[in-house]
Amino acid sequence: MCGIVGYVGGREAAGVILDGLSRLEYRGYDSAGLVVSDLDPSRRAARSAHALQVVKRAGKLAALRAAMAETTFVGGLGLGHTRWATHGRPNDVNAHPHLSEDGRLAVIHNGIIENYVELRERLAAAGHTFLSETDTEVLVHLVEESYAAQAAAGAEPDLARAVREALGHVDGAYALVVAHADHEVLVAARHTSPLVIGLGQGENYLASDVPALLPYTREVIYLLDGDVAELRRDRVRVTGLDGAQRARPVDTVEWDAEAAEKGGYEHYMLKEIYEQPTVLQNTLGGRLARSGTDVELDLGLDPRSVERVVITAAGTAAYAGEVGAALLTRLARLPAHVEVASEFRYGEPVVDERTLCVVVSQSGETIDTLEALREAKRRGARTLAVLNVKGSSISREADDVLYIHAGPEIGVASTKAYTGMLAAFALLAVWFGRARGTLADDEAAALVHGLRELPNQVASALKRRDEVAAVAEAIKGARSALYLGRGVNLPTALEGALKLKEISYVHAEAYPTGEMKHGPIALIDAAMPVVVVATASTLLDKTLSNVQEVRARDGLVVAVADEDDARVAAVAQHVLRVPRTLEALSPIVAVVPLQLLAYEVANRLGRDVDQPRNLAKSVTVE
Ligand code: M6R
Repeated sequence: MCGIVGYVGGREAAGVILDGLSRLEYRGYDSAGLVVSDLDPSRRAARSAHALQVVKRAGKLAALRAAMAETTFVGGLGLGHTRWATHGRPNDVNAHPHLSEDGRLAVIHNGIIENYVELRERLAAAGHTFLSETDTEVLVHLVEESYAAQAAAGAEPDLARAVREALGHVDGAYALVVAHADHEVLVAARHTSPLVIGLGQGENYLASDVPALLPYTREVIYLLDGDVAELRRDRVRVTGLDGAQRARPVDTVEWDAEAAEKGGYEHYMLKEIYEQPTVLQNTLGGRLARSGTDVELDLGLDPRSVERVVITAAGTAAYAGEVGAALLTRLARLPAHVEVASEFRYGEPVVDERTLCVVVSQSGETIDTLEALREAKRRGARTLAVLNVKGSSISREADDVLYIHAGPEIGVASTKAYTGMLAAFALLAVWFGRARGTLADDEAAALVHGLRELPNQVASALKRRDEVAAVAEAIKGARSALYLGRGVNLPTALEGALKLKEISYVHAEAYPTGEMKHGPIALIDAAMPVVVVATASTLLDKTLSNVQEVRARDGLVVAVADEDDARVAAVAQHVLRVPRTLEALSPIVAVVPLQLLAYEVANRLGRDVDQPRNLAKSVTVE
């Protein structure tokens, strides 16, 4: 949510910033802008004014790139931003960076300044002129005020000190970067919203997310809440808001630059769908014991100390949690349920030290999920995070972390992270089941065997893209779709419907199959596709009866069924086939054709698959 990039060093900053922004565009894409400052003393002296060079444009990065083609931006210090609007419409003026009236000070910001109304009133009354409708602009004037006060007191102004003083007035969430035409330094600060420093030789970088740094460096420093960093070409210094130095470790990122590229695919989403067999290998790798009946997880948690499980997450991660809750209940006989994170936090949750709170997140930065984790900890729960991104905020605050090792997920619609999360929950359920004595050797052996088969089975499901494309062709004109599933595959239906909504803008809703007759059946006619998950299950007969009910009302049925099934094919007009696996593991294969179906429909409708309207990856505002 909003992408930030900063650079100071010997390269042309404009190119580095633009490249970084293109790698972070998934974080927000309604407008973009950048500022460049020339560090060369001779050229600076030749300039009539030491103003910063700035360009901002509403719309996607392409609009900024086109605007930049008209001017030459020279300079080795710069900062840039892609925006996901909170306060103020997406237009050129509200785009970041925001500058002081004299054009010498620039600020970019991700987050929300909650007390901006009162700050704006006070600053306006003191003579500051506001140009935009954003909350961010108060930061420009606050820094300007502290900076001017230092100068008025006869001191050589210190930009970092001005930023620290300004932040003393601010409530809310921020990752921000400040530049001043008279200083060869980027000053960055973080509270809640993510920010990572990339370390180079004679150059240093800043970004909201690691993919922007990967072509340049894999040595990084993750900033923590309350950190203020000063980046110069040759050094980085981190302090607290009080100015006291803080030691921050240097981490090495495991991902390489290629992992964050499209790799020949038309879209990141498609590439990520096709990466799922590898992701599953990575999630399961080293965690299935040689005995063939057990799972080995490197967790500090004592499984016998847990009496119940609350899972909290948002969006697709919450649907993965729904599968997890079903597996923990069925396989480990642990009471488990899901609460979406945005509700959990405010819902006076009943959790205690015998409760395991599992938070699930691809990014590890979703603010609702992070705050839910904090609420669970405040109430004494033990916490475990099922996560993709290392170094993320949630990874630092959870008691235990189970990584899915999915690599960077760039497409805004989550796909490979979902199946990775499902595999992680399957591991967790077997681990608990074995420790609690609820899974006998033969049941555990079947599950472990089933897990080992999954990467190949998902690869085999992915070979049927043409069949999915034919169904997409048949349903692409629909204005609405109903998705049905039950048991462990109700979340599959929910996730399939979310994927279609997100990237094709076709309305879709999901229901437990058995609930259809209690209301949604009224919607069914020949124009409404009904997508049913009908893989092998103890309830398949009942599902088939429900399919007949849809057909009796002229409904168009698209069923996800096992490769060797004959019964579903006899009643559904379209069948999307997947390899047969155990019912407990079936959500991992059954979701694959639904991901592809959403992709194929969206593509046929000419949608922007990787950057669907109004959305952003990693939602870091409430
Ligand atoms: O990074 P997270 O997994 O915490 O993100 C949670 C949701 O915002 C995310 O899954 C969202 O629903 C995706 N757009 C789904 O495709």
